[in-house]
Amino acid sequence: MSVEDIFDNNNFPGEVKIEFPKKHHNYLINGELKQWNGDFLDIFSPICTKNSKGEFERTLLGTIPRMKEEVSLEALAAAVNAYDFGRGEWPLMKPKERIACIENFVKLMKQKRDSIVKFLMWEIAKSLPESQNEFDRTITYINDTISAYKELIHDNSKVQFYDGVYAKVGRDSLGVVLCLAPYNFPLNETFCMIIPALIMGNTVVYKPAEQGVLFVSELLDAFTESFPKGVINVLFGNGNEVATPIVKTGKINVLALIGNSKSANALLQNVPNRNRLKLVLGLEAKNSAIVLPDADLDKAVAECVLGSLGFNGQRCTAIKMIFVHQSIVERFNQKFIKELEILKYGLPWEEGVKLTPLPQINKPKYLQDLIDDAKNNNAEIINKDGGKRIKSFVYPAVLFPVNDSMRIFHEEQFGPLVPIIPFSDIEEPIKAINKSNYGQQVSLFSENHEYLKQIIPIMTKLVSRVNINSKAQRGPDNYPFTGRKDSAISTLSVKDALETFSINTVIAIKSKDNNKEIIDNIFTDE
Ligand code: G3H
Repeated sequence: MSVEDIFDNNNFPGEVKIEFPKKHHNYLINGELKQWNGDFLDIFSPICTKNSKGEFERTLLGTIPRMKEEVSLEALAAAVNAYDFGRGEWPLMKPKERIACIENFVKLMKQKRDSIVKFLMWEIAKSLPESQNEFDRTITYINDTISAYKELIHDNSKVQFYDGVYAKVGRDSLGVVLCLAPYNFPLNETFCMIIPALIMGNTVVYKPAEQGVLFVSELLDAFTESFPKGVINVLFGNGNEVATPIVKTGKINVLALIGNSKSANALLQNVPNRNRLKLVLGLEAKNSAIVLPDADLDKAVAECVLGSLGFNGQRCTAIKMIFVHQSIVERFNQKFIKELEILKYGLPWEEGVKLTPLPQINKPKYLQDLIDDAKNNNAEIINKDGGKRIKSFVYPAVLFPVNDSMRIFHEEQFGPLVPIIPFSDIEEPIKAINKSNYGQQVSLFSENHEYLKQIIPIMTKLVSRVNINSKAQRGPDNYPFTGRKDSAISTLSVKDALETFSINTVIAIKSKDNNKEIIDNIFTDE
């Protein structure tokens, strides 16, 4: 099959068929599923099907409510009331009762695996195994969060004693969390924020991304059934129409947003009491791979292909620049192209498929602009069909030699473009990473352990994770996931997220004889 024929194979197997267009009109406020009667937004699939004229076009998958300020504020009021300055049923609930609600939710969510996986394939063109992985990884994350929370409760039950003062040191909720999720991991990244926020006793207003949203309709009943009213409220629509009015009130305590800094900054301009708002932000990254002269080239190439083109490069953790020592760059490029040519392109449910169409409507044009700019500055596309565009599909383009005069050197492409930058001195990539606005991760490729030992401490000052001979990635989810500079604020991981969505508390009492009884009573767990 040639690139041109990518959409021809649309005899969709039965197991991937969904009924569309799906008019989704339910939303959840204050424990009640309501029906939307206002305007709707169309949701298109990146998978193109033939229209009545026989032309391929993005498939209309369904519609979601285009909510406005009035409803947003209603959802906010529900979350504020449910929290009730920390006196609500949810924040005061015993940990084991909150855990039971979340366990019930997981039980119900598991029943929706097949339909959610289908939505992920249709809506964001994530391949079948990757969609299944996103679902399963999310369930594991939730279960691990429950275990980590139990440990936290256990650790916090100890009474401490310093300088004549007994204390119980713990963590408590922050208040109302506004959670805005991204399109690329719409399920996983949503629950990596919502579940720790909820388990710590916060209440939540959640607005899914505009793409990667229809699966949420499958979970509304589970939310309604599992949590007391107002604890989780779900809205749909444009970020600026739904989230901005909420932020303007100054009534949210945490803004949890995974996406881009443009939306984050636009929202933050509306915050009236900036010091009272905790930020949990996962933003852009421009992770580099640095391939040193003594790298195992086969290993480096395999990891760089996976790292730069996994889910078409639409991972915040993707490798977005590859610095290769000039002594090996010719060989690296040849091997890279060979490995890339093996990657199968097609529709998400086709067996073994790795490269799929892109969900964001403007993305192909943006990628072409980056390519044109690089070419105008003397880079070339060095692989066959590189950059070829068929509607929503863009075949990966390997750009070489890239330098800092090009936009691709500075901007996060978030798509299948692979810029390769030759270097002669390690100072060159170090300076580039230092100068970059971003500081999430780096991947170092070398078999010279002594040399790696020298570079690692330099890198840990520039980024928050250094990967040795492997691609950049978020997981395993037990490890802290954060970034320096404009890449992130706060840390997410199974354990860190519990801290991120809570604050230290200390209950202290001086050790006087007549305090013995009160100490025994207050510090005894039920
Ligand atoms: O886009 C960010 C995702 O959380 C990436 O996760 O590195 O495990 O694929 P991953």
